[in-house]
Amino acid sequence: MKIKGQHHQTIWLKDERTVQIFDQRYFPHQIVIEDLTKLEDFEVAITDMHVRGAPLIGVTAAYGLYIAALEALEQQDFDTYFTNAVKRLRKTRPTAVDLFHAIEKVVTTVNSTEELKKKSLLALEAAKLLAEESVVSCRSIGEHGLKIIKEIASRKKGKPVNILTHCNAGWIACIDYGTATAPIYLAHDAGIPVHVWVDETRPRNQGANLTAFELNEHGVPHTVITDNAGGHLMQHNMVDMVIVGTDRTTRQGDVANKIGTYLKALAAKDNNVSFYVALPSSSIDWNVNDGLTEIPIEQRNPDEVKYVHGWDGEKLSKVLITPKDSPAANYGFDVTPARLVTGLITDRGICEASEEGLLSLFPEKNESDF
Ligand code: MRU
Repeated sequence: MKIKGQHHQTIWLKDERTVQIFDQRYFPHQIVIEDLTKLEDFEVAITDMHVRGAPLIGVTAAYGLYIAALEALEQQDFDTYFTNAVKRLRKTRPTAVDLFHAIEKVVTTVNSTEELKKKSLLALEAAKLLAEESVVSCRSIGEHGLKIIKEIASRKKGKPVNILTHCNAGWIACIDYGTATAPIYLAHDAGIPVHVWVDETRPRNQGANLTAFELNEHGVPHTVITDNAGGHLMQHNMVDMVIVGTDRTTRQGDVANKIGTYLKALAAKDNNVSFYVALPSSSIDWNVNDGLTEIPIEQRNPDEVKYVHGWDGEKLSKVLITPKDSPAANYGFDVTPARLVTGLITDRGICEASEEGLLSLFPEKNESDF
């Protein structure tokens, strides 16, 4: 997607030993590119959210394992170093399942050869492949979701389709296109009038900082709203549909996404507004059924709630908004039960949020040992 008219993706290889990313903590105020050259850089980049968003977290970890494999070649015992790198990367973020899927893919590929030098080459190929697959997957989510937007647009006879989204499930959370935003970009590019209500998404403000930034760069009409405004807008027929992303979708169609998603789903149900979740297959956890009890919910540093970051006109500043000693709690995600989800927009098509719905698109998972 574009920044200042130029096509970009979120992660790329600069040279054999350097992976580059946009340090997302600076968007939209500054464009900062960061070099990741050692395993620890990848751990910090994922944990401290220089990169974030389920698909991008997965691909970043995959590149991290490539660099770890290069480092392992310089150690006495490749396997011990590499296995420890896997452990370290698995600990970076708990909720998004793409992280674990991506790590598993690289590990399987690396283990497919005994030749030490070949291991790092295979890790690199696996990381590149995961990135390419993510782009293709997001593009198909876009094509499937576009059909829903077209249908609403034809009912609205030329009036803009108002879409509400939460957090950032755009290209900045993926490699390109995004998940929730892919249908929106495709609709906009096809000349269908769309307007996006962007939830600011406290405490890290991914909506205000990232979704608004990328929609703005692409010229998609949008308005940033407070996290609590969605219900009011729905009551007044100002939202035609909701599309959000997901960090983990269970076998029965429950969806873990950024904290606050559940409340949007409740408001949507009460107001008869369609609530769609856009997801690549990599975000489905076929081993988990009940999202409420089985998905680990990340709890982050309370300071993210107590302090607000913003641009003071010259630099990024941080200000305290609570009494200094007030405790704060920072739950990163919540689970929206399948019954509140109108449909899942996947890379293979749209289905009901249920085991039957998912299996109709992924019949090969029928034989799962779940
Ligand atoms: O904590 P984050 O910023 O990594 O959370 C991101 C989200 O919740 C996204 O909406 C999600 O990863 C959806 S997938 C593009």
